[in-house]
Amino acid sequence: MKTISEAMNWRYSTKDFDPNKKISTEDFEQLKDILHLQASSVNIQPWHYIIADDDAGKQRMTKGTQDIFEMNKNKLLDCSHVVLFATRVYADDAYLETILEQEDKDGRFAKEEYKTQMHQGRKMFLDIHRSLYTTKMLKVSKVVD
Ligand SMILES: Cc1cc2nc3c(=O)[nH]c(=O)nc-3n(C[C@H](O)[C@H](O)[C@H](O)COP(=O)(O)O)c2cc1C
Repeated sequence: MKTISEAMNWRYSTKDFDPNKKISTEDFEQLKDILHLQASSVNIQPWHYIIADDDAGKQRMTKGTQDIFEMNKNKLLDCSHVVLFATRVYADDAYLETILEQEDKDGRFAKEEYKTQMHQGRKMFLDIHRSLYTTKMLKVSKVVD
């Protein structure tokens, strides 16, 4: 395989896993890096990844495979690692501050003013989504009324 197109044509969704096979620690570290380096709008990074790599952890994950999702249970138990994607549905100002301070600690602002600009820019874009979210919620509550 030499190109991304070839890789995409080769890939398929695995439905059965060999419980005797395990992704090596080295390979899984690379996968974690990929998750960690995911791009997000205005670098808000609104997600957490919860990883189960042993039997007890995978068993806990199967709580999400009840009723019509029963068909997924063995996939979770047999596969090497399960990655649960959890995402925020709302980002409040306190969360934005946390992100900003972490970026500062990581040395992402060459000048103090860049930090302020980042916060203002991020808030501007976030406010568009936050007001849309509120409007949507209001509409839903009107329908419910
Ligand atoms: C609405 C919807 C829900 C699905 N839910 C599941 C699921 O719970 N478990 C599963 O193994 N596959 C599920 N699938 C099927 C896979 O996601 C499917 O393999 C995927 O669409 C891509 O297939 P491919 O990798 O063969 O191209 C679902 C598909 C759709 C369209």
